Parts: sequence; structure tokens; C-alpha cells
Amino acid sequence: MTQEEIGGLVKEALAARVNAYAPYSGYTVGAALLAGDGRIYRGCNVENASYGATGCAERTAFFKAVSEGERTFSAIAIAGGMAGQAPADYAFPCGICRQVMSEFCDADFRIFVAKDEADYREFRLGELLPCGFGGASIQ
Ligand code: THU
Repeated sequence: MTQEEIGGLVKEALAARVNAYAPYSGYTVGAALLAGDGRIYRGCNVENASYGATGCAERTAFFKAVSEGERTFSAIAIAGGMAGQAPADYAFPCGICRQVMSEFCDADFRIFVAKDEADYREFRLGELLPCGFGGASIQ
């Protein structure tokens, strides 16, 4: 990916963050998932008064994409912070989201945690979820 393409994906994550529903934590997250066919799927966190029913931004993006027939993915950009403020730090995906990523993505899947389009860090899924549990173990 070029710098421009990565910056574009980060912009999509920041745009997705605008729709976050986070009245309980006040922490809003946006994600932009790049599929193999070049399409980008946006996701945001959607909280619930029954806290455990809350959905993360990353999983929203994955479930949207998979439900539309996508099965291959190359990268995701994630941006999060307190509502109404620019991200103060990099927002890393939670453990459950890393597990969902591993269902569909290889170890080289690229994860960009971003403050803005010019300030981001890149990781590979294999770095953030080493020795993960996968479907091969139960077949
Ligand atoms: N959150 C995400 O959207 N993604 C993550 O990977 C970590 C946490 C959301 C869930 C909740 O709405 C808020 O951030 C605070 O935990």
C-alpha cells in the first residue's frame, strides 16, 4: 500500500468513528476494513445499556463485510478516543476483535492504529495475536 492509500484508509476509520454510539464509556472508535476486491467497509462501536451486548468497531466492520460476501481482507485502520476529541493515543484492537480477525485473515494481515492520517503505527496480526486458536485445531 502507498502512503496515500494508508492515509485514505485512516480517513475512512475517522469518518466511521463519527457514527459511534458510546453513551456509556464516551470512547468512540472507528474502523475501516480493506477487502480483497478493494472495497472498504466501515465500522464503529455500538454500546448497550447491558454492557456485554456492546459491539466493537472492528467486529462491526468485519461482520458487515462478511455478510456482504467478502472473505478476503488485507488491512484495517482503527482510530479511537474520547468523544468529540481527536484520538489522544493509538487504539489497539481488543482480544475478541483480534480473534475475529484471525478467523478470516493470515498472520500478515496489516493493522494500522492511527491518531490521524499522518500519524499511525503498523502491526501484523501475527504480532498482535501470536499462537492464536484457529479452526484447524477443531477439524
Ligand atoms: N472498543 C472498540 O470498539 N474496539 C476495541 O477494540 C476496543 C474497545 C469499544 C467498545 C466500547 O464501546 C468502548 O470501546 C470502550 O471499551
